Amino acid sequence: MQNIAVIGAGYVGLVTAAALAETGNRVLCVDSDTEKIRKLRKGSVPIYEPGLDKIILKNKKLKRLLFSTSIKEATVSAQIIFICVGTPSRQDGSADLSAVQKVSQEIARNIREYKVIVEKSTVPAETGEKIKRTIEMNNPGGVSFDVVSNPEFLREGSAMQDAFHPDRIVLGVASERAEKIMRQLYKPFKAPIVATSINTAELIKHACNSFLATKISFINAIANVCEKIDADVEKVALAMGLDTRIGKEFLRPGIGFGGSCFPKDVDAFIHLAAQKGYDFELLKAARKINQERKDVFIKKIEEALWIIKDKTISVLGLSFKPDTDDIRSSVAIDIVRLLLGAGAKVKVYDPKAMERAKSLLKGATFCDNPYEAVRKSDCMAILTEWQEFKELDLKKIKKILRQPVIIDGRNMFDPQQMRAMGFVYKSIGRSGK
Ligand code: UGA
Repeated sequence: MQNIAVIGAGYVGLVTAAALAETGNRVLCVDSDTEKIRKLRKGSVPIYEPGLDKIILKNKKLKRLLFSTSIKEATVSAQIIFICVGTPSRQDGSADLSAVQKVSQEIARNIREYKVIVEKSTVPAETGEKIKRTIEMNNPGGVSFDVVSNPEFLREGSAMQDAFHPDRIVLGVASERAEKIMRQLYKPFKAPIVATSINTAELIKHACNSFLATKISFINAIANVCEKIDADVEKVALAMGLDTRIGKEFLRPGIGFGGSCFPKDVDAFIHLAAQKGYDFELLKAARKINQERKDVFIKKIEEALWIIKDKTISVLGLSFKPDTDDIRSSVAIDIVRLLLGAGAKVKVYDPKAMERAKSLLKGATFCDNPYEAVRKSDCMAILTEWQEFKELDLKKIKKILRQPVIIDGRNMFDPQQMRAMGFVYKSIGRSGK
């Protein structure tokens, strides 16, 4: 059992806190948002993440998981302190690290004995060094400490599964003492550990997210070519994925990658590389392909409807991917905005993300179920691949649409079957002939 503190009760912080409490540690989770902490203390979990609330409630009851707003309390009580605060993008694409700096200063002021300070937020390379310097400057007693970089690889929607069964754990360490403590902490997870320098660990996170984002843009570029020569991108992705050197994950074509990580991390890595004197053209191209996905999708709607103005378009899916209520940098939200901007009447439905989307999509009509959204629409657009949409009664959909037009941004259905049912069906990278 270790005493742990997790600073920042966002996605990464809450999942980390829950997973470490579940493996028997005593975890104090801290956030400056008093309302959030008040709710968590009462047992209300502020985000939708399958399985998370159960683990939080269980460990809260067992008094292994506690909540506070005090970094001082966290620093005094814990030996290992995880920094999981937000690192949003600045206008120029670089990461805003002011929260990381503030937390580091406050930890430093309260250190009275040796601590391991773990950077888990997604940060640009060399942030570990800056955290170390900040703590040294604000730690007048000169108490010894170690900074560790321990990047997070969890995916929203499957975060608990990812937290308990990671492919690997990366530890950027500068001392044997810190490495030993961290290895001990992660023993119950039974995952391979890659121990390396702090800079290398930080670069691993940049490299992983950028590679995955590039993989998605690659298959989307292939989809563009498939459309031009009447080939089927799904078959291309299947055959590519069966090559074990390539692997089948992250080869799903669609409307492009969104979310709070990939777009921001790609920007930050391009920015960091440029600062260091390297023009990361490959990554810039991946970003450009991604930015163009929205226009590719809108064009498909235009091809089917001719003129978008005054048409009623129903949009199914607003979250940036299924099984989450997160709409941060969701391509679906951007597409709804573009449709509204083009003068369409937009009716939207999402199983989980409607509450969050309401303030962002003022002109849209929010519907209680997919059928209500689709009724009397000129076209149904699928933007997030929720399982619920796969199970739609398509005969009913056909009856209640004003025109039997479906534009599928996530390739959820078989083109031939859809056409056999009488739909005008357009999807990504396949003609279905
Ligand atoms: C991503 C990474 O997958 C995690 O490993 C990482 O820890 C996390 O970022 C982070 O840096 O914190 P996440 O943003 O939760 O996780 O979501 P993903 O499942 O990676 O999806 C990102 C976007 O790519 C979504 O918009 C999704 O629709 C899109 N995507 C994904 C595709 O368009 N095609 C695919 O084949 C896969």
